[in-house]
Amino acid sequence: MVDTVLPRLAVQRMHAYHPPLSGRQGLRLDFNENTVACSPRVLEALGRIAASDLAKYPERAQVEARVAQHLGLEPEQVLLTNGVDEAIHVLCQTFLDRGDEFLFPTPTYSMYEVYGSSTDAMVKTVSSGEDFAFPLEALLAAVTPETKLIAIASPNSPTGTVASREQILAVLERAPHAAVLVDEAYYHFYGQTVIDLVGRVPNLVVARTFSKAYGLAGLRLGMLAAPAGMQQWLRTVISPYSVNSLALACLPAALDDEAYLQWYVGEVKAARVEMVDCLRRLGVPQWPTQANFVLVKIGSRHAEFVQAMHRLGVLTRDRSKDPGCAGCVRITVGTREQMRQAATAMSEALIEIRWERA
Ligand SMILES: Cc1ncc(COP(=O)(O)O)c(C=O)c1O
Repeated sequence: MVDTVLPRLAVQRMHAYHPPLSGRQGLRLDFNENTVACSPRVLEALGRIAASDLAKYPERAQVEARVAQHLGLEPEQVLLTNGVDEAIHVLCQTFLDRGDEFLFPTPTYSMYEVYGSSTDAMVKTVSSGEDFAFPLEALLAAVTPETKLIAIASPNSPTGTVASREQILAVLERAPHAAVLVDEAYYHFYGQTVIDLVGRVPNLVVARTFSKAYGLAGLRLGMLAAPAGMQQWLRTVISPYSVNSLALACLPAALDDEAYLQWYVGEVKAARVEMVDCLRRLGVPQWPTQANFVLVKIGSRHAEFVQAMHRLGVLTRDRSKDPGCAGCVRITVGTREQMRQAATAMSEALIEIRWERA
């Protein structure tokens, strides 16, 4: 069939990104989600929704004020989004013109590339070294007057590495003409943040998600913290109704249940220590991680490993096509019990594929 209606050139040049959209049965260690559930209080909130509530367009203002209060921000500094994915999209739409540059270190979260390359701007990347440490010097050197947006995921996916506060400040200072997004999707598993600098540093934007520690990936809820002036531009671009009523009804309940959040984060942190130990015993190379996942190097048998794990009931994510990640697989960390199941599967899978240390 011949296409008669072609998309913009930028879209024709894009690489399609196709995560699995069905059939994820088993222990889900492939998408860095909460591997258990959201707080039971969220389900109670869902149960209180009336049919007439769904007849109305969503009203986000009060919930944004609640999130602002929770994070010690002003209500005008908070924008709820349909996941951090929408936040990235809105930043690209707001700041990137033809001839501009969107700069970020690689490997990193795939959607920076997707949304950046769907604009008429240039995506410009700098490589992290073999240790995947934050490439500060290379990033600073890559900033030009055309740089209008910079993204730093900290902790970063798929590597689990972080950028320090000093490094982030150096980028903010080097590029005062660019919006600098610090993507703190995995904040809870790390514990360090720069959100306190929002409004004090004019070009800083911080993203948080409710998809990971809070266990609300299915509701699609994220947020951007940014100076009030910048938020006015972001609100000009975003759909006022992109966060739906069910998500808005659930969010205060999720924020209220601090005990549940702390329980889950504590489980993951303890399980992470066990997982790192287990990988060390198995002799599988890994990178130090501050997130709820660990990147491991399987080598040339990465695809067989992922398949063997799948047969054993554990989903993992092959990241070997990411820049600098040949032979790498990313494994989400869940609870201690789940990680013991994963560890048993891993030992079996490595035997099954006749894995040998490089
Ligand atoms: C660094 C990073 N940012 C953002 C996201 C997406 O978050 P959300 O589910 O809120 O769109 C992910 C998801 O894996 C991620 O790894």
